[in-house]
Amino acid sequence: MRTPRFQEQRQRALAPVAGKVLEIGFGTGLNLPHYPSTVTWLTAIEPGHLLDKRVADRSANLAMPVEILRYRAEALPWEDQRFDYAVSTWTLCTIGDPLRALREVRRVLKPDGKFVFLEHGRSDDPKIAKWQTILNPFQRIFACGCNLNRRIDRLVEESGFTVERLDRFVMDGLPRPGADMYRGVASPKPGSSRHPDR
Ligand SMILES: C[S@@+](CC[C@H](N)C(=O)[O-])C[C@H]1O[C@@H](n2cnc3c(N)ncnc32)[C@H](O)[C@@H]1O
Repeated sequence: MRTPRFQEQRQRALAPVAGKVLEIGFGTGLNLPHYPSTVTWLTAIEPGHLLDKRVADRSANLAMPVEILRYRAEALPWEDQRFDYAVSTWTLCTIGDPLRALREVRRVLKPDGKFVFLEHGRSDDPKIAKWQTILNPFQRIFACGCNLNRRIDRLVEESGFTVERLDRFVMDGLPRPGADMYRGVASPKPGSSRHPDR
């Protein structure tokens, strides 16, 4: 996920991001070099044990302050309407309860905030989608809970966002069942900011 092809996609997805930003599923910080100078503060969450020296190296010399915290996206600790942008790259495939996580993301976004996503998911080609469904249980076991067949745009819409822009494409150089990409920008639907459990 560090190859030039992935880096180009990261750069494209992150280009509009600005202000106070939340990144969910930060991993080892591969997005860090691609944040534009319009970002004033980055809060990144990551539940895994990935906060190692690579992250420290990638965080060094950045213009913006970066805080990396150990939380899951399904339960964010912040008050409503804190962030200008939220970012997820290749994370919604792995999150245990993506709808709950997205509702939390929506809750902590300002009403005029944006959610930027770059994810792989279910193919529009029924033959590929069928293979994704067959392979999914194995993928989950061998790729740390990753799902091949989530309809990312539907999840985003169902959690209280309007998808404003969506680019669908097949990324070269990847095994076909994991190559269907969803790159998009969504905004919170008016009046939908509170989590139903709160
Ligand atoms: C395939 S990796 C992608 C990492 C990074 N976003 C990137 O673009 O390189 C998926 C990440 O999602 C994280 N993750 C899994 N469950 C999560 C959850 N419930 N909340 C937030 N992040 C989660 C994993 O720990 C992992 O770092």
